[in-house]
Amino acid sequence: MATQKLLLLPGDGIGPEVMTEVEKLVSWMNKTAMASFETERDLVGGSAYDAHKVAITDATMDLAQAADAVIFGAVGGPKWDSVPYEARPEAGLLRLRKDLELFANLRPAICYPALADASSLKRELVEGLDIVIVRELTGGVYFGEPKEIVTLENGERRGVDTQVYTTHEIERIGRVAFEMARKRGNKVTSSDKRNVMRSGVLWHSVMNELHKREYPDVTLEHQLADALGMQLVRYPKQFDVIVTDNLFGDMLSDVAAMLTGSLGMLPSAALGAENPKTGKRKAMYEPVHGSAPDIAGKGLANPIAMFGSFAMTLRYSFGMTDSADKLERAISNVLDSGLRTKDIAAAGQNSVSTTEMGAAVLKELQRIAG
Ligand code: IPM
Ligand code: MG
Repeated sequence: MATQKLLLLPGDGIGPEVMTEVEKLVSWMNKTAMASFETERDLVGGSAYDAHKVAITDATMDLAQAADAVIFGAVGGPKWDSVPYEARPEAGLLRLRKDLELFANLRPAICYPALADASSLKRELVEGLDIVIVRELTGGVYFGEPKEIVTLENGERRGVDTQVYTTHEIERIGRVAFEMARKRGNKVTSSDKRNVMRSGVLWHSVMNELHKREYPDVTLEHQLADALGMQLVRYPKQFDVIVTDNLFGDMLSDVAAMLTGSLGMLPSAALGAENPKTGKRKAMYEPVHGSAPDIAGKGLANPIAMFGSFAMTLRYSFGMTDSADKLERAISNVLDSGLRTKDIAAAGQNSVSTTEMGAAVLKELQRIAG
């Protein structure tokens, strides 16, 4: 079995706590010869700033470039509120996305039946929900230039960010969405703000052309981003695959996460283009939740989004579909058994710690894989 290199970047806040649970899973997989992972751990975000005064070092970037997959925890926290903008914890995450060219962000929002009551929406609206947000991750207003604060002649200051997309960027994220839809419900909803933005007009027409040319068998719908936000909380099950830009994708995926019961449930994958020679792609996997500094270090964090992200690692980076399915089933079974971390527990219900939830998922996986 070929050895696969994983770079673990736990980051800040609850990042290290949830990463520890994945490390236990990785050791077990190695021990049982289900896989052969070689892991390295390094710093990113505030913890990297404390050690090196940058949010990620060049040396860590080299490790990320050389890894078969990067597993990311979370970054940020009030401790670093006043560090220079270029060195803020989030800059480490953004550099990883940009330098590894991870343009395709897959954010599946699945509502496990056992958790339907943890959602802020009524059970019938979310039970069985299964949608994927395909978010463009290396373009748009996150990276467009100019990006600056300038002082004008009259002494006023002006902050500028630039929303920019090219045909090529829209087409490649569109293809990811259409390909994904073909394996699922065969429907793509593309979202932009073409009623106010030029980049949205382009987004809309490039998606239509791509659809007509390469994917006429897939249903394509369009929804303005504000309306899509509204529809996500009105009737989320109408969606299959949603494709949208970097900023709208950021916002809409937080909305989608809450439909599933908790931000602590949502995994994600950030993928680059396939290398035609090796068939491999650069990839980073991270839970959608942030570093949650308020609960960090208390054993309260929910490790499920991190486990789900690792299941996506097995699926998308290593083609280990069977192991990914089993891990996802283990998560689902543990939830069915009633075990809850605090974020997904009903009022008055007992909850378990990060480690207890991690151990329960691993034990269930061992049983299934038995
Ligand atoms: C996310 C996060 C990041 C983003 C932050 C931490 C920079 O909110 O991955 O959704 O805005 O992309
Ligand atoms: Mg976000």
